[in-house]
Amino acid sequence: MSARHAERHAAIPRRYEESGARAAKQFADSGAATAKGTADTSILRSMTNINIGIIGSGGMARHHLERFSSMETAEVVAIASRNEQTGSQLAAAHKVEFIPEWLRLVERDDIDGVVICTHNDSHGELSLAALRADKHVFVEYPLASDVGDGEEAVQLAKIRHRVLRVSHPEAVSNTHKALKQKIGELGDLLLTSFVRLTPGRGARPEILFNLPVSGTPAHFFIYYIYPIVDFFGGAASVKRSAVYEGLTEHGQYDRFVNTLTVEFKRGGIGQWTWAGGIAINAAEEHERYVLTEGTISDAGDRWHCTTPAGVTPLSIPDSPQPTLQELWLSEIRDAAHQPPCLEDAEVALESIRISLASEQAVNGRIQL
Ligand SMILES: NC(=O)c1ccc[n+]([C@@H]2O[C@H](COP(=O)([O-])OP(=O)(O)OC[C@H]3O[C@@H](n4cnc5c(N)ncnc54)[C@H](OP(=O)(O)O)[C@@H]3O)[C@@H](O)[C@H]2O)c1
Repeated sequence: MSARHAERHAAIPRRYEESGARAAKQFADSGAATAKGTADTSILRSMTNINIGIIGSGGMARHHLERFSSMETAEVVAIASRNEQTGSQLAAAHKVEFIPEWLRLVERDDIDGVVICTHNDSHGELSLAALRADKHVFVEYPLASDVGDGEEAVQLAKIRHRVLRVSHPEAVSNTHKALKQKIGELGDLLLTSFVRLTPGRGARPEILFNLPVSGTPAHFFIYYIYPIVDFFGGAASVKRSAVYEGLTEHGQYDRFVNTLTVEFKRGGIGQWTWAGGIAINAAEEHERYVLTEGTISDAGDRWHCTTPAGVTPLSIPDSPQPTLQELWLSEIRDAAHQPPCLEDAEVALESIRISLASEQAVNGRIQL
């Protein structure tokens, strides 16, 4: 198992200083409650409990429901899904209301934040609808399957002072922070290279290996692009090659190889290779950062740094981090008295610029 893969599956420590009380005090001290009168009831309610609606009733919806249900400061009030069977079962198991149409959930006055766990093709539409209804948004990656939708979502969040968090875990990852710091010490990027080979086709291959629904592998594997964009910024150009075996007229396929090469605006080259549904016993993955003063590689479940002077393991601190759900709740509370920070959403947007450009760059190059 690679170092990044190991961390994605590790439990994240839950201890985290909730900022709700501080936010409420600062909100009262700032006089904002008087200045805004009583119109913004969602702000006043957020000082006590944050009401959440979840859209989708699959694996990630269940995961978020369990996480939020265990928090004292959040309450899941409703679940919406087009799948009435799994939706009503999940809602009944957690004693929350089931709503068949997601738009009705988004428009409800008693909901502060919407968690979007549907397939990739609807993330943009649902996020935009929720932000237009003045909800805070937590959307599963990728942010959107259309760059214009992603841009509009970030813009709406800015204008309406709503939190927009995409589910990329790097914001709460000690490993990511340690890598970012080390990369900052080792000069300029020459090359970053990532390879993942897997026999698997996902729990629902008809959805995952499906171009109209999930996008290209570069798009549904966006979580391998995001950390690198967070390290090195956006791309100036994107080039890709793709092979889909068994491709049907509906865009479903059996096996793929997908490569992506970018030139970063700040210099350096990024390369990703993914192959799925291939003849291999177990998944393999490796990742390298070649910088002017040294190289960082993953080896098994550890990272190490090699320079002409020798090889040293990368030290990863063990400091407690919030869960992404806790982070989102604290950001919602903080949004009562300050504009939300949208830096991570901007990285998510920059990442889909790359993954979606790869769809247009059919065996050629596209300038961004
Ligand atoms: N953060 C992570 O670690 C992580 C891990 C895995 C996946 N993900 C992301 O999470 C998302 C969901 O994945 P999943 O594994 O939970 O998928 P899933 O098990 O297939 O569940 C998706 C759910 O959303 C419903 N749905 C899909 N499109 C919809 C629409 N337009 N309107 C209303 N409901 C809709 C589906 O209904 P049907 O049953 O009718 O299809 C299903 O209930 C994906 O975008 C994926 O990229 C994130």
